[in-house]
Amino acid sequence: MSNAVETLERALGECREGYSLPGAFYSDPGIFELECDAFLKRQWFVAGHQSELPNQGDYVVVEVAGASIILVRGRDGELHAMHNSCRHRGALICVEPKGSVRQLTCRYHAWAYRLDGSLQAWRHMPAGLDKADFGLVRCGVATFEGFIFITLDPANAPDFSTLTAHLKPYWAPYHLAECKVVHRETYHMQANWKLAIENNLECYHCLPSHPEYSSVSGFVRADEKISPAAIEAHAVHRAKLESLLAGLGMPSERSEIRWVGGQLARAGIIPLSEGVSTASKGGEPVAPLLGELLAYNESTTTGAFGFTSYLFAANDYALSVTYIPRDAGRTDVVAKWLVRADAVEGRDYDLDALRWLWDETTKQDKAIIELNARGVETRGYRPGPYAELEGQTAEFVSQYLRLMRETARG
Ligand code: FES
Ligand SMILES: [Fe+2]
Repeated sequence: MSNAVETLERALGECREGYSLPGAFYSDPGIFELECDAFLKRQWFVAGHQSELPNQGDYVVVEVAGASIILVRGRDGELHAMHNSCRHRGALICVEPKGSVRQLTCRYHAWAYRLDGSLQAWRHMPAGLDKADFGLVRCGVATFEGFIFITLDPANAPDFSTLTAHLKPYWAPYHLAECKVVHRETYHMQANWKLAIENNLECYHCLPSHPEYSSVSGFVRADEKISPAAIEAHAVHRAKLESLLAGLGMPSERSEIRWVGGQLARAGIIPLSEGVSTASKGGEPVAPLLGELLAYNESTTTGAFGFTSYLFAANDYALSVTYIPRDAGRTDVVAKWLVRADAVEGRDYDLDALRWLWDETTKQDKAIIELNARGVETRGYRPGPYAELEGQTAEFVSQYLRLMRETARG
């Protein structure tokens, strides 16, 4: 038995239902390797938006869980995703993070691949070998409302349409496929990816850590039971919003969750505070209304696709967040802001105003997630109990442990 499996078994033996994980899960490189195979490879995650690859040959390179993936728009207009490693002796093919190409040519010995990853040309190879056997290794690709999702393990990932079927009505009114990405930010976190996901799935930390987000999101004070008045005000506001959304033919569930193959598929409508138009500094509008919306309705839509991708839409902009595990102790968080395709910077939106709230909030999250990472590495760390407001975090940990137990059993 490998050392990594022994470490995993020992750590699994220390787990307690409803408690945070033992320290080895947040730092051990062997466990990270095992979870890449058991868990991360099977995730569907947001790799981009179709507005980032408008033309044939446009590509981006996405680094995730030890893999480098080329996402490219082919001659047929279809999207293709494949591993960025030549089938000859493995050299990296695309070196730049994005660009546009006619074909994918390896610099080393000039093997050339078509945009769908099939091998087009090689030189002086022995007779008897068939080019058809040496195409680039393919990943799974799917789209949802203009967002491009990838999975590294299409054979074992859940079916994408099953994962997303019930989520469509929540997003349809925003016409996100017709939006464009206007800003990208990568936040490098010195923390294990699970600490970042645990943080994202609960708002128990919102009141102490996100004063700006909490002030525009009335549910935070109500969930915290700050006062009977806050609870009452939020309930009245929510009821009004529900009848408004029903009139528009939109769903209004706060959080509709399904588990598909151990993966989270969640969408929900979250009211803003009364009188707040959008999730911004002071709640003022920051861009033209999206899609079919005719007026601000004081709500936002949020959703999770698996555990590593998160979408958010206010009435006038959208945000995608992808958690990219780099190794046992580092996670990149890639955030992209989107507005209507016809919006013009300076006239219709101001970039600083658009990105302010989520940039501040994500920087605050980075600070607390890194504090968490430092604390769980100390000798004094003992796993602690999750609060009621951390229900989805506890569920994530239990789904994760189920898969890791299967891995330990072999
Ligand atoms: S490694 Fe790519 S052609 Fe040789
Ligand atoms: Fe947060």
